[in-house]
Amino acid sequence: MRQSLIVGNWKMNGSRAANTALIGDFVSCMAQLGKTDSDVKSAVCVPFVYLDQVGQLVNAESESPGAIKLGAQDVSLHVEGAYTGEISAVMLADMDCKYVIVGHSERREYHHESNFLVGQKALAALQAKLTPIVCVGETLEQRESNSTLAVIEEQLTAVKSIIGEKNLSRIVVACEPVWAIGTGLTASPEQAQEVHQFIRAQLGADADKISLLYGGSVKPGNASELFQCPDIDGALVGGASLDAKSFSDIVSAASI
Ligand code: 13P
Repeated sequence: MRQSLIVGNWKMNGSRAANTALIGDFVSCMAQLGKTDSDVKSAVCVPFVYLDQVGQLVNAESESPGAIKLGAQDVSLHVEGAYTGEISAVMLADMDCKYVIVGHSERREYHHESNFLVGQKALAALQAKLTPIVCVGETLEQRESNSTLAVIEEQLTAVKSIIGEKNLSRIVVACEPVWAIGTGLTASPEQAQEVHQFIRAQLGADADKISLLYGGSVKPGNASELFQCPDIDGALVGGASLDAKSFSDIVSAASI
């Protein structure tokens, strides 16, 4: 069965004090909601400098209803060596990360990350036994020119050819329409389902074992309808993951 998964992407937000408060409040909210089942996994992908701190905070809650896994937002394709400023997958594993986001549209756009590089990063993550959360998604221009599916196919094909079909069941795919990120615009459930169904069809024999997440202005108010789509297994949440109540409500919506 596919795992429901809700991942918070904190992006470049947080401070020691804010992180402690956010994780503490999330745990309290989850306890109040009375969710004890483990049908839904949750994780937070935090800035590198806070991995140690947030790792300790989430470890302390590993048995509580607010149990949460740790992830990072990017990774180097290199294993070690003279790559100033880079962080390797082995280092992330050493910090007890379970997940790492690769190919987020903000990295593709601001750091010119290519499909090839994203595939290499996914491979580096797998080699360190991390689960890469591979992000795909179209811009508004691409949607309006009817090239959404072609763009996504190209993004996925690069990853597939680099990691190999046999490793596909070890990844998570997050589909985030670029036009829906941080804009308050969300894909309608129909739009999202169409693309997620297409993605699943691209994922080969193990497609049914792969969690597909939707991302782009997911909020408590729209989460349930998105989670009812047959090919959506969870969400990658930006802004709303910085608010404990909103994030716990989204996790809760996935467990109904
Ligand atoms: P928002 O939820 O803020 O739109 O961000 C989505 C996202 O980019 C998550 O990776």
